[in-house]
Order: sequence, then C-alpha cells, then structure tokens
Amino acid sequence: MSVAYMTHPLIKHKITMLRKETTGTNEFRKIVEEIAILMGYEALSDLPTRDVLVKSPIEESMQPEIDGKKLAVVPILRAGLGMVNGILALVPSAKVGHIGLYRDPETHEPHEYYCKLPENIDERTIVVVDPMLATGGSAVAAVDFIKQKGGRKIKFMSIIAAPEGVSALMKAHPDIQLYVGNLDRQLNENAYICPGLGDAGDRIFGTQ
Ligand code: URA
Repeated sequence: MSVAYMTHPLIKHKITMLRKETTGTNEFRKIVEEIAILMGYEALSDLPTRDVLVKSPIEESMQPEIDGKKLAVVPILRAGLGMVNGILALVPSAKVGHIGLYRDPETHEPHEYYCKLPENIDERTIVVVDPMLATGGSAVAAVDFIKQKGGRKIKFMSIIAAPEGVSALMKAHPDIQLYVGNLDRQLNENAYICPGLGDAGDRIFGTQ
C-alpha cells in the first residue's frame, strides 16, 4: 500500500479551520467538501486516459479523455457523506455507493448494516471516503466488504488520520492507496484522534 500525506498549504489551512471548535456546522461542511476536492485532485492524478479524435473549430486532433468505467465514490456512513460532493465536483459522472457499519457493543468488531455498491465494481476505480481514520477498524472492514463484492482498484481518503489507523489499514490491505490530509499524534482512551477535530459526523450534520 502506498500512503500519501498531503502537503499543500491550502489543505493544511483548511484542516486548521476544521479543528477550531468555533467553526460552525455550515462552514465545517463547506470546508470538508473543499478539502475533498483538493485531496481528490491529488488522489485521481493517476487515472488512466485514452486518446480520442476531437474536431475543434480549427482542426481534428487526438486528445486525452478519462478511460474505463466510471469512478465509484464510496462514503463510510455517516461522516464520509460530507466528502462525496467534493469528489463529484471533480467527476460529476461518478457513481456513488454507500457502506454503513456499526460496532458490536460486546466484541467491538465492526459489522455491516448497509452496503450498496455500483454494478461492475471490479472494473471501477473506487474512492472510499471517511474524514477520520482513527483505529482503522471501520476502514479495514469497509475495504474488506468492497473486496468481497469484487472491488480491486481501491483508494482511501481521510482528512485526519491517527498513526494507529494508518498502521491497521496498511497491515490489512497492503494493496490499496491511502491519502491522508494530516497525520495527527495519537488516539485518546475513547478512540478520538488527538488533537483532531472532535466527532466529524456531529460537526458535519450539526448533531451532538
Ligand atoms: N471519528 C471522529 O469523528 N473523530 C475522531 O476523533 C475519531 C473518530
């Protein structure tokens, strides 16, 4: 697996804005989407292209367009939803799948309660989005499910990651590409990322 840590000052600045507890829901949601656009631009830089014949008002020439089946964006519910429109701003024709997971209160293992993916998933580049990569439990389980359904070309995008989450995902899925906006210090005893930004889902949707 390759891990790419974002270095662009715009991404860093916007992550700082997300961290501030004074940033309200409206602004938070908008910034999550903007970061998804900036990270998506980087994560999709290796999409394959093919040359097609184009007739401009001046002449015909061979020019590149994105090759292959449409991209699939797969948010991990619920916070991942906040990043979907950012990817769709770059690739409006992308298909959107969804994965919902809950944690068993006794075993703490993640279980799927909802998984619907676009057809021909084996032929698509898949961008899994979740703003926070904390323990890595949900991320590993989500990629497990996508692979069980035939997904192969998988990219995973998180705005903030803990070292524990990066290690868990790298160990379980060495074949995927991981994109991280910022690597934070550690998890606390409640599995929140420190310094982090709190609960991303609550901050995106204005819940407590
Ligand atoms: N999920 C969140 O929303 N925040 C964290 O800090 C960890 C997991």
